[in-house]
Amino acid sequence: MAVRRLAEEQPESFAFTAENQAWAERTIRKFPEGRQASAVIPLLWRVQEQEGWVTKPAMESIAAMLGMPQIRVLEVATFYTMFHLAPVGRKAHVQVCGTTPCMLRGAGDLIELCKSRIAPHPHEVTADGALSWEEVECLGACVNAPMVQIFKDTYEDLTPETLAAIIDAFERGETPRPGPQIDRQHSAPAGGPTTLTTLDWGVEEDVREPAPAHAAGTEHPGDGAAAPPGTPRTAVDETAGGEEFAAEVERRKGRAVLRTGTDPAAGEAAAQKKGRPDPTGRSDEAASRAMGARAEGKPTGEEEAPKDGGFPPRERRGRGKKE
Ligand code: FES
Repeated sequence: MAVRRLAEEQPESFAFTAENQAWAERTIRKFPEGRQASAVIPLLWRVQEQEGWVTKPAMESIAAMLGMPQIRVLEVATFYTMFHLAPVGRKAHVQVCGTTPCMLRGAGDLIELCKSRIAPHPHEVTADGALSWEEVECLGACVNAPMVQIFKDTYEDLTPETLAAIIDAFERGETPRPGPQIDRQHSAPAGGPTTLTTLDWGVEEDVREPAPAHAAGTEHPGDGAAAPPGTPRTAVDETAGGEEFAAEVERRKGRAVLRTGTDPAAGEAAAQKKGRPDPTGRSDEAASRAMGARAEGKPTGEEEAPKDGGFPPRERRGRGKKE
């Protein structure tokens, strides 16, 4: 990313409008005495909304309002790429993320598009003052790379074609729908959920079917919508979660599960190996004690566990309690 410097040409002075001045004073009063500097970001943002960019006289004015050194305001304004340090396009300033995930997913092509569609160089405003672009560092939407930010919104999962359409829309004065530009809900997997789609927890209203294919015209595909009535449920995976399905269901209902006819040590060892809760519902410490006792041929306490899957009587639960 290019070094962020103040524009060479600066206005003579800065003043908030009366309305913004009143808003700024209210904002400053929200912070405790001695902490007024914390209002620096909202005030800089309000400057940008008023002027279109953050000017040097505006930074000086904010420093005076907040009683902080001018260099501190400059540090904040030059650190965050959301603050424009020079005039930008009136209708759209396209900030293209050029960090590794976006670059690996095609940000280079988006930059080439900006060069041909807007201007050959970053921060160069088109002749009519409508558009400009720049490359910035990661904007936190890497999972939907490549992406751009235009003013307050992000546009994700882009191709040169979709970005061109977005720029065209801004140029016409429209505001295209932000977010992913493909069949994806927020940052969920493209096309709908890919995990936990085969479990049936036995509580009908809690069960989410695998998302149906994206229906034409649906705003948010894969939004956990139920499958049409009569759709066969996906087969239950008996080893779901690494434990027997029935035991997992009981455990999620808050019930302890005793396995009968199986070697309890095997389930224990498998559960611990996977770092999962003990299959009988005991604490890790209790499970470890039982394993140690079994290895030494001593009673483990499991002999007293009830057969109905419920918790043992309260008087049997106490650690080291004598009976
Ligand atoms: S790398 Fe582009 S948003 Fe993070």
